[in-house]
Formats: sequence, structure tokens, C-alpha cells
Amino acid sequence: MPTPGAILRRALTILGILAVAVTLARAADRPVYLDANQPVEKRVEDLLSRLTLEEKIALLHGDSKFTTAAIPRLSIPKRWLSDGPHGVREDIGPDTWNPAGRTDDFSTCMPCGTALAATWNPEVAYAEGVAIGEEALARGKHIMLGPAVNIMRTPLCGRNFEYLGEDPFLAARIAVGYVRGEQSQDVASCVKHFAANNQEWQRGSIDVEMDERALHEIYLPAFKAAVQEAGAWAVMGAYNKFRGDFCCQNDYLLNTILKKKWGFRGLVVSDWGAVHDTRRAALGGLDLEMGTDKPYDEFFYGRPLREAVQRDEIPQSVLDDKVRRNLRVMIATHILDGRPTGSINTPAHQATARRVAEEAMVLLKNDGIALPLDRSKIQSIVVIGENAMRLQAHGGLSSEIKAFHEITPLAGILGRVGDRVNVTYSAGCGRGTDSNSVERALTAAKQADVVLFVGGLNHDRNADTEGSDRRDLKLPYGQDELIQRVVEANPRTIVVLVAGSPVELGPWLARVPAVLLAWYGGMEGGTALARILFGDVNPSGKLPCTFPRQLADSPAHALGVYPGANGVVRYEEGLLVGYRWFDTKNIAPLFPFGHGLSYTTFDYSNLRLVPGAGTNDATVAVEFDITNAGPCDGAEVTQVYVQDMHPSLPRPLKELKGFRKVFLNAGEQQKVSIPLDRSGFAHYDPDKGGWLAEAGEFTILVGSSSRDIRLNGNFTLAQTTLEK
Ligand code: BGC
Repeated sequence: MPTPGAILRRALTILGILAVAVTLARAADRPVYLDANQPVEKRVEDLLSRLTLEEKIALLHGDSKFTTAAIPRLSIPKRWLSDGPHGVREDIGPDTWNPAGRTDDFSTCMPCGTALAATWNPEVAYAEGVAIGEEALARGKHIMLGPAVNIMRTPLCGRNFEYLGEDPFLAARIAVGYVRGEQSQDVASCVKHFAANNQEWQRGSIDVEMDERALHEIYLPAFKAAVQEAGAWAVMGAYNKFRGDFCCQNDYLLNTILKKKWGFRGLVVSDWGAVHDTRRAALGGLDLEMGTDKPYDEFFYGRPLREAVQRDEIPQSVLDDKVRRNLRVMIATHILDGRPTGSINTPAHQATARRVAEEAMVLLKNDGIALPLDRSKIQSIVVIGENAMRLQAHGGLSSEIKAFHEITPLAGILGRVGDRVNVTYSAGCGRGTDSNSVERALTAAKQADVVLFVGGLNHDRNADTEGSDRRDLKLPYGQDELIQRVVEANPRTIVVLVAGSPVELGPWLARVPAVLLAWYGGMEGGTALARILFGDVNPSGKLPCTFPRQLADSPAHALGVYPGANGVVRYEEGLLVGYRWFDTKNIAPLFPFGHGLSYTTFDYSNLRLVPGAGTNDATVAVEFDITNAGPCDGAEVTQVYVQDMHPSLPRPLKELKGFRKVFLNAGEQQKVSIPLDRSGFAHYDPDKGGWLAEAGEFTILVGSSSRDIRLNGNFTLAQTTLEK
């Protein structure tokens, strides 16, 4: 007779066996596409085979401003797309461009794109990507519309502040870091705007003409690296035309280059409202249509696409390829498996926002060690300028962020020294100020120990904003004149510039002892600024763009080819964008690309060019020693430029091909090794259709900026190679 305990044990065993059997049976029932253990491509094919034509069509266009339709019968949820690139934007719509009016759509606001590039630190970009990815998860977003990697062709482009500067190599390294970080969170990055969207003027219609070399060497590398190295899952087609055809239906850009040459397996989404023709977009390589100003079913990829497929005007295989790409991104980012819940505005995210801001700020000028300020020797500070008080996070259009908080420059300064130093504020000039306010500022300036003038630009129309370009490079609201008068009233005037793109600095520049470029510093920008001003943090940002002395010095303006005429803009400067132009044409900039001072000094020595050494497929390792020879700890961005001594095709005087940000304690020395592979020597050869690294002599230049070269040496490349 079994004991009651034995009966219970047997019953439990049987129940256990039954539970396993049920689980196995359920797993056997579970369709392949819902099985996270199956390979992505198998899941994609399985799901594709289950979709009706209507369902396929539904996956290829928006069903609100920022979503695509759910297919409940197959457990496919709504997909949410969101701007990008400075954080997760507040919710819009669903059917209008107005905010959705939610109370739970705040997020961390990171510094602007140019600021991120000014860190010259791909690790920081990775950390920013991770933070934005985590917040995207928490906000239920699947595809984030960033990073924005268009090259700064003209300093006037309204969206420069979102982008990563003028150099393709720097932009590529930062974009790769950002995308890797964001996508590590099961959130797809969408690199935008592909391609040649370098001005806002007539952005919806302008036709961009440029040669093949400029396209491949300047305008495409950041996209290519984001796609090939970081595996970005989405690319956004631009509004403009390229060589006669809109970018969202541009067979050459989308099919030939992106999909065939680069092997991109993700999806191409249109910019919002950038589709013009069903057939041309479908055959031209577009996979997802968003933002069209029509009822959703009437989108080019709604009923018209379905009917075109039914009439065999668009092959089923073309439709299926688009669906596959959408499903692939969905499955690869685990939308069907349940993603982590993410987190929002954590102390870690705020710390990342502050770190980006601190590493980004560029000390443009610092005569007589005017900075950092010694709090113990200052009794009074007057802060002058509208930007000291102005909130910037929620500006600039699609990249705006509804930030949890935003520490303004004034709040940062008050938070840092307000308990010991008498800090007062005077607007001076700005929107809605009058001559009295100028006089008040001058009186206050005379009485203070130190003046901090916080000026620059903002996100108003014709400033740093989407939808319009700036009209000139001048500081608005009469700031030049005001600074001139302030510095006359008090020579101890430090100028802080809040801006996302280059500005012309007036004659006052020679008279002020220090100028700090603070960018749009995101929600922690004021804290970061104060920490730099008072020496808690040593500035280490470097310019990702040239500051010209005057607009007419910069290439597109010198040649009179901006903004184009009769609907066409010709990039006649070709490869000579940014410092490539200033160097090659021997024009002195106001502040060169790569420039940025520190509170300490760095010595470079002992250059060694070690052939075949370094890491991976390095052709040469550029090795040198760097010493922090000054009084405090700090980081230096060491930069490697390559000059082709006998190019068979004309090349810019020199090109950035490597960099490393190195942190050194005071007095410390480190060995730096920067590998250069063949791409470090190659140019694009249009006749050969690939990257040609020609055997011959090159000069390797190592410096602290593009115009502050400290070491150089010659290297002979032994073999010519062509990479298609
Ligand atoms: C911008 C894109 C943005 C989209 C959605 C467009 O106007 O060009 O960068 O992602 O709107 O807001």
C-alpha cells in the first residue's frame, strides 16, 4: 500500500510530465515567426508567407503621423517611429503635427549633434546612443529617427546643429558609436537624410548636382559606415532631388549604392511627406512611406500601390522585398518577442547628457588664462545675454525635446557659485528688449568683477532650425555692438556662445580675453558650462567645423553656388568642403577645424610610422608620445591627417584619417598608436568605380588641430589597391 506521501510525489511527477508535454505541444504550435530561437531570415519568410496583400500593404505606410498599422491576427503590433536625434521627441499627432498633449512623454535632452561631434569621442556617442535607446524602449518606440549625418556644406544650413560637422571621417566615427549604442537596446536607428540634404532652402524640391568623387568621399561615408560597420537598420530618404530624381525614388542612391553596393538589408523610410510617385518610389527602392499629406489609405503606398501590384505594374517580388525588409527590422529588433522595458531620465542618462556637454564645449580663445574663473577671487558676476536664460531643448522643430528639466547657463552658474558670489542677470539685447535694457546691462557690467556674456543663436526661424537657413553668419539682435560696449565697460568679459553652427565674431573678438563655445548643451548644459567656467572640468571639445572669418570665405559662398538657381544647386566646390577648401586655397579661417584649447598644454613628440603594425589590417601605425605638460589633468584630441604627395587625381591638401582622445593627468605621458588602413590613403576613382589607394609617398601629419600640426613624417605605400 503506497503511503500518502508517495501518492503525492507520484501525482506531482505526473503533473510535471503533463506540464512539459503541454509546453512542448504549445511550442510545436507556435509559428516559426514567433519563435525567438529561430534564425531571423527563417522567421521573416514564415511571416511573409502568412500575409495577405492588404496586410503587406498595411506594413508599408503610416496609419498615423508616426505609426504603422498593427495586424492583430498575426500578433504584429503597431510600430512606432520617433524623432531623433537628440532624444525621444514628445508624441505628435496622431493625425496632426500638433503635440499629442500627453503628460508622460518627457525625455532626456542630449546636446545637439554638432556638440556630440565636438567631443571627438565615439565612446561618448555610444553612451548617448544607449541612453536614447533605453528611453525609446520606455516610451515604446521601435525606430528612432537619427542620427542625422548630413555634412555641413555651408555654415548657413538651418539644420547644421543636428548634424555631425563638416568632415566625413569624424561624422562616420561618431555615427557608428551612436548607432551601435542605440541598437544595442533593440531599437532600430534610422540614419538620415539620404542623401545630400545640405540646405533647408527649397529642401523639398532643390535638385542637387555633384560629381561622383564628392558624393563618395564627402557626402556618403557617414551613411556607409553607419550601415556597414554599425548595422543601422533604417535609412531615411531625403526631401531633395539628386541628379534630377527625388531621393525617395532615386534608383542610383537607394538601389545601386545603398542596397547593392553596400549590401544594406534594412528598410528605407521616406522623410515625412517626401514621396511623390507610387511606381517610381516602389521601383526606386523606398520601403516605407510616412508623413504624406493624404488620408492614410490614399498614401502612395496605400491603395495606389495595392492596385499597381494587382495590375502587375509593380512585380510581386518588388513588393515582397519591401515587406521582407520591414519584417526583418521588426524581428531583428525583437518587436515580436517582447523587448526590455527600458528606463527614462535615470541619473545615468542625466550623467551622460552632462558628460556629452562637458566633452563638447570648445574653448576658442583664452588669453592670459582668463578661464577658469577663481571663485575665491570674485565677489560679483553679471551675466548678460538672452541665451543665459533661454530654454533651447524644445526648439528647432523635429529634433526638439520635451525635457524633464533644462539647466540654463544662468541656472548652472547660480548653482555652482550663487551661494558665495553675487550673481546678477541683465538681458542686454534680444527679442523684445529696448535701449534701456542695453544701458542697464552696461551699468551692471561696470560694477561687476567679471562679466559673462552668454549670446549666440537660438532655434528661431532663420537661425539654427529645420525648415529655413540662416541669412548670414552674424550674431543676431545687435550682439556684436553690445559685446563691444560691454567689453569697453569691463575688460574682464568672457563670451559664451550658445549655437549649433559657426558664427562670425565681430571686432570685439580681439578685445575679450576668452570665448567658450557651449553649443546647445541639452538638459544638463548649464551645469556642464559652470563646471568648465570654474575649472571643475577641463574643456576638451574640438571644432567639428571651420569657423570662417566671413561667409564669403567658405566654399559654396566664395563660388556663389549657394543656394542654387532655377531649382538646381551645383556643388562646384566638389571635394573642397570645410577645411579641405580653406587649406587647399590657403585661406585663413577664424578658428580652424579641430581647434579647441585646454586649461593645460600638451606636448607631442617622437613620431614613429610603423609599417604593417598596429591593429587589424593597419597598413601603418602612427605612433607618438603625448605629454600633459601643464598644471592640470585634461584630455587632448590627437588628430592624424594624410597628405597625398603625388596624387594622380587632384586631392585636398590634407584629410583627417584618424584621431584619438587621450586623457592625461598633469605631468603624465602616454604612447598613442593610431592605425591607418588602406582607406586612410585612398580616394574615390570614378572611372574605376572604387576606392583607389595608390602606391607612393604620403605625408602623415599629427596635430592638435587642422592648423596646429605638431609632428610629421613620410610614409611610402608599397602597393596600389582598388576596393570596389
Ligand atoms: C524631418 C525629419 C524628421 C521627420 C519626422 C521631417 O520634416 O526632415 O528629419 O525625422 O520630419 O518628424
